[in-house]
Amino acid sequence: MHNFRLVYLNGEFLPPERAMVSAFDRGFVFGDGVYEVIPVFGRRLFRLPHHLARLQRSLAEVRLPNPLSATQWEEILARLIRDISADDQSVYMQITRGPAPRDHAFPPQVNPTVFAYAQPTKPPAPETLAQGIAAVTVPDIRWARCDIKATALLANALLRQQAADRGAAEALLVRDGIVTEGAASNIFVVRGDALYTPPNGPFILPGITRDLVLELAHAHAIPAHEQALSQAALLDADEIWITSSMREILPVTRLNDRAVGNGKPGPLHARLYALYQDYKRAFCEGRVN
Ligand code: PDD
Repeated sequence: MHNFRLVYLNGEFLPPERAMVSAFDRGFVFGDGVYEVIPVFGRRLFRLPHHLARLQRSLAEVRLPNPLSATQWEEILARLIRDISADDQSVYMQITRGPAPRDHAFPPQVNPTVFAYAQPTKPPAPETLAQGIAAVTVPDIRWARCDIKATALLANALLRQQAADRGAAEALLVRDGIVTEGAASNIFVVRGDALYTPPNGPFILPGITRDLVLELAHAHAIPAHEQALSQAALLDADEIWITSSMREILPVTRLNDRAVGNGKPGPLHARLYALYQDYKRAFCEGRVN
């Protein structure tokens, strides 16, 4: 069932089938929890400080203290990574407000549930990169705190399923005529020689991959703008990409069953993808942190 042998749960390392939480856990009953997904390249946690900072922010926004220090997290994640033979992995970590009698207001005494595991992963296949993916635009039905990486992902699941039902790999979300992000990714568009991505705010997750793409663009003098994107601008883009820790930078070559640009991944995608892979290689070789 699982392609890993060990999970961390509340202070213990256990086989996945022995990792149990209470049916009264607020994560289960209310979706009252936050999470992170961190890529592991060459057995090293990619952009760990950024992910831990985002976790800290999510926790603060839902008024949960971080149950572990950065060093404790690092020790737990190192042990999970060590147990897997693959060099490329992903780490999942989640904190919920723990078990309590059902009441929407917080329990007086919080006993958080802390859960983490690592599993082997593969980067997107060369065929996927060569062809690009299909996406569809759908109304963004989520709440007004999408900046919190919350485990309550029912809206995201419904949105992604709408894409899957239409044979597409991602749903691009539109709120009041403005494009926010993907169901589980951030979005970039190319017009001419410049990149555009929506600015951070309450309706998008501040993506770690998004920030790295912006950093790489700035470092290589590629014009990049954080600017609101209308749905009309999306339909008229030369290139569209989605970014996420596990999907890296993927070109969208079909949108709502129509070709994006000439229907092939574009030159700016090739450029940023190469810069991203160079950065990853430097990271694996210990040349960048
Ligand atoms: N999701 N926006 C949403 C809504 C996301 O769920 C994600 C990632 C991103 C991209 O963020 P990052 O570059 O930091 O991975 C943007 C993760 C991978 C998931 O839920 O599995």
